[in-house]
Amino acid sequence: MKIVMLGAPGAGKGTQAKKIAARYQIPHISTGDIFRANIKAGTELGKKAKEYMDQGLLVPDEVTIGMLMDRIAEPDCANGYILDGFPRTIPQAESLTAALSDKGTAIDYAINVDVPDENIIRRMGGRRACLNCGATYHVEYAAPKMKGICDKCGSELVLRDDDKPETVTKRLDVYHDQTKPLIDYYGKAGVLKEVDGTKDLEQVFADIVKILGE
Ligand code: AP5
Ligand code: MG
Repeated sequence: MKIVMLGAPGAGKGTQAKKIAARYQIPHISTGDIFRANIKAGTELGKKAKEYMDQGLLVPDEVTIGMLMDRIAEPDCANGYILDGFPRTIPQAESLTAALSDKGTAIDYAINVDVPDENIIRRMGGRRACLNCGATYHVEYAAPKMKGICDKCGSELVLRDDDKPETVTKRLDVYHDQTKPLIDYYGKAGVLKEVDGTKDLEQVFADIVKILGE
């Protein structure tokens, strides 16, 4: 099963993608997480990505597309995967479609997690992320057991650099301009599914399971 998660920054793509990955036993591939791991490790890719991410801009397609293609060519992707944060531009989607079609396959589901902009700002300010294992929390909606500490690995939780209010506004602009057209793209491909992302996160997951099957 090959799934793409669509939705604005902070819509809950990462939250749901992790649950889907666990339930259906497929790898969760987040381009944002890959960039953040590279930033933490101080790689050249990380340095380049950080310049864009800190401004709320997209990392250029020529960097992102190759990186994603390498990742989905790995053996753990043989039975499918869930892509979170990719594609984010029409050229990225076209590259993915072409690469899959060369192999005689295609994306099975593009799930759009729909959340209005007003809700997004509130979610981002309360999000706390573990830069060690990638887990995410929300101070109000998905709090860790111990304040500021990751339940899974015990590391310290932080507010992501790009979750500052002014950067969130920029990310939303970029989303409307460059990423939202993908809803239409996957609609035309006949694989688009919409879920209401303003519901409680367990309810959103239940709605997704209804789409994907038990
Ligand atoms: P990325 O890491 O993908 O960030 P994003 O799209 O901005 O999305 P987020 O991770 O911020 O949000 P999310 O939808 O995963 O929400 P979450 O589940 O955490 O990308 C970061 C940057 O990397 C980009 O800006 C860009 O620069 C670069 N980049 C990445 N991919 C790229 C690409 N393909 N091309 C070019 N550049 C790229 O949830 C948010 C919060 O809400 C959490 O605190 C969560 O606990 C809470 N929450 C979730 N669901 C609910 C709910 N139902 N109710 C209440 N709270 C909820
Ligand atoms: Mg995310």
